[in-house]
Amino acid sequence: MKKFSQPHLLGIKNITASDIELVFETADNFKAIINRPIKKVPSLRDVTVANVFFENSTRTRISFELAQKRLSADVVNFSASSSSVSKGETLIDTVNNILAMKVEMVVMRHPAPGACVFLANHVQAQIINAGDGTHEHPTQALLDAYSIREKLGSVAGKKVVIVGDITHSRVALSNIYCLQKLGAQVMVCGPTTLIPKHIEKLGVKVEHDLMKALNWCDVANMLRIQLERQDIKYFPSLREYSMLYGLDKQRLDQLNKEIVIMHPGPINRGVEITSDVADSKHSIILDQVENGVATRMAVMYLLAGQKG
Ligand code: CP
Repeated sequence: MKKFSQPHLLGIKNITASDIELVFETADNFKAIINRPIKKVPSLRDVTVANVFFENSTRTRISFELAQKRLSADVVNFSASSSSVSKGETLIDTVNNILAMKVEMVVMRHPAPGACVFLANHVQAQIINAGDGTHEHPTQALLDAYSIREKLGSVAGKKVVIVGDITHSRVALSNIYCLQKLGAQVMVCGPTTLIPKHIEKLGVKVEHDLMKALNWCDVANMLRIQLERQDIKYFPSLREYSMLYGLDKQRLDQLNKEIVIMHPGPINRGVEITSDVADSKHSIILDQVENGVATRMAVMYLLAGQKG
């Protein structure tokens, strides 16, 4: 039986294309299962998972919890805002206290890049990164690539443009690693101030003209402007950003081909994407959310399987 190469999922950078394909094959099986009348399997029975969130989340947190419940795991949820972190407890102490209650797997979101690597080096549990600051969001990239594979048949050879706030986006970095490992071509598009210097060293194309990017791509992944991570002004106004980089029906109609529209959420409707595009037949935004459950089931199943 094929096995996942890593004991944790800390990022896409340190997993292989075979790992990603294994996640997809496993997710195919789980997707079939969760569309049956009886959606639960006993695969993670007797495994206890803690969802430890130091940052807000809607999709990732619900998706992981649902995935854990579908796998029959025992689940505990921890949110920093309602915990003793506000009384000064450190990350290690917090997690070690949770582990003392016999938790085997920790799904963590944290604002500090590298927090999950730090945790994996200091605690005895399997760690899954649910987003660490501006660094990586590996399960988002896996579900994004899985959704492209589902829609277009494969990821290899496809052209994917990631549009928007690349500088502050963990989704962008994980997507770049994941798509390239699977043989896709990746472009980033946005204002100069929101594209990291030297990003082309990662092997991506850089484009500042949205129409040129849209004409090039098969798939456009539209990102939110991460105002919560911006300590200075990177562009004059959201209105100007939207005029230059927002995806609307007029721009789509100017293309002489159909493209697939993605967004990791949360969407700022009317800024990076208009409602008519987000809700159009070209959009696979809700498919991404649906695929998040099967993909996360696959990741946890494969990690837990390493202990057997
Ligand atoms: N895509 C994503 O990570 O969404 P949440 O912040 O709601 O989890």
